[in-house]
Amino acid sequence: MSKRHLAFICQNCGAAHGRWQGKCEGCGEWNTLSEEGADRPAGPGRKPGKGRLFALEPLSGGGADAPRLASGMAEFDRVTGSGFVRGSVLLLGGDPGIGKSTLLIQATAALAKRGERAVYISGEEAVAQVRLRAERLGLSNAAVELAAETSVEDIIATLSDGKTPRLIVIDSIQTMWTDMVESAPGTVTQVRGSAQALIRFAKRSGATVILVGHVTKDGQIAGPRVVEHMVDAVLSFEGEGSHQFRILRAVKNRFGPTDEIGVFEMTGSGLREVANPSELFLSERDLGQPGTAVFAGIEGTRPLLVEIQALVAPTSLGTPRRAVVGWDPSRLSMVLAVLEAHCGVRLGGHDVYLNVAGGLRINEPAADLAAAAALVSSLANAPLPADGVYFGEVSLSGAVRPVAQSAARLKEAAKLGFACAVAPEAARAESGGLKLTEVTSLASLVADIAARGNAGRKSRGQDG
Ligand code: TYD
Ligand code: MG
Repeated sequence: MSKRHLAFICQNCGAAHGRWQGKCEGCGEWNTLSEEGADRPAGPGRKPGKGRLFALEPLSGGGADAPRLASGMAEFDRVTGSGFVRGSVLLLGGDPGIGKSTLLIQATAALAKRGERAVYISGEEAVAQVRLRAERLGLSNAAVELAAETSVEDIIATLSDGKTPRLIVIDSIQTMWTDMVESAPGTVTQVRGSAQALIRFAKRSGATVILVGHVTKDGQIAGPRVVEHMVDAVLSFEGEGSHQFRILRAVKNRFGPTDEIGVFEMTGSGLREVANPSELFLSERDLGQPGTAVFAGIEGTRPLLVEIQALVAPTSLGTPRRAVVGWDPSRLSMVLAVLEAHCGVRLGGHDVYLNVAGGLRINEPAADLAAAAALVSSLANAPLPADGVYFGEVSLSGAVRPVAQSAARLKEAAKLGFACAVAPEAARAESGGLKLTEVTSLASLVADIAARGNAGRKSRGQDG
């Protein structure tokens, strides 16, 4: 019985505590506990103790309907795994203002245009506001069914009536509340209770439900963290405020890949799908400047070329600065250590800044070589060839190791007009028309770039 009295729930991580305390033992956050009514027993109107008999079914066999429904937005489908699975529930997270509502109104409109029933429930905006946005997006004639509602029971009752919708958007889960739970909307208990009810409805009816969840950094609003375990897929919509690019990424996906990204551009008339992101990420290059290298990367199955920018400048600080945007800081430390230890590059007296252009975030170790090239290029004040791409993993011994999918990387580079590539030895067989410079050790690349720097200074008559 004691569980029923656990009434202090951490609003950050969802841990339950028996009494109030200043610090949550679960996540270490301060002042996040708030008193919430204990859950009523789960399941609608069931007496405890007595179970209902149900039929077990074979693994084979399925419904007559297509199990997946493409949304009509290719970039969205790429991330979900070619469409929405019947009865699945997706959570779409992202910072406020990033464009979640815009993306989903476009997705529902695309479905409705193809004759599927799509419903958009807004708990944050009035129907008129949603209409206003749709008008701006040029979608006002799409047959999307709209409502501004927050009661989960009312929503489920309404949607159970008549033909089951194919897609239901709940914007956002934090604004929903259910009678099953006695606490204020927005609390973890309510978010969890509402999500549970909607998930049950999706599984029962076969509709696909997309829950929108706001993620706040300080954990003030009950985060949708607790919901992540309950849903089939967690998508995150990311982007830098100052950039127009938005990236849709699957963090968890029971029915598809988790390494694909969808790329969008926020324009004055909504989100535009970007079918060839490399062109976008390379569109504003500083050609011929020292400190930039083009990395031939792979996101999921798609090659993606992106510029890596580095600035290495003498420091006036006792501890030099290491700042990195869009890449793993510990990977940067590793590359810097290898440069110092094996390539004779002294960086102790320099601040180092590294940036991935366009607001993209790279996770691949294959970016090591491009990052190292950009760093050395900046330090030696030696511009890298503007028509060259770089990829390869750097090991702690200073060796350059082969990476997966070289052929796809080189093919994409050739397609975009690049003429040469600096890559590990193993890429030779797949050069695809590019002039390939094979590197086996980081030291030889550093020597090459330094020589370019010296040659450049000589020709400009600055050698001294
Ligand atoms: P929104 O979808 O409301 O974000 P979220 O639901 O994630 O909070 O998008 C809000 C931002 O998008 C807002 O800053 C304005 C911008 N925007 C455009 O630039 N163009 C458009 O066509 C629309 C509808 C929004
Ligand atoms: Mg919104």
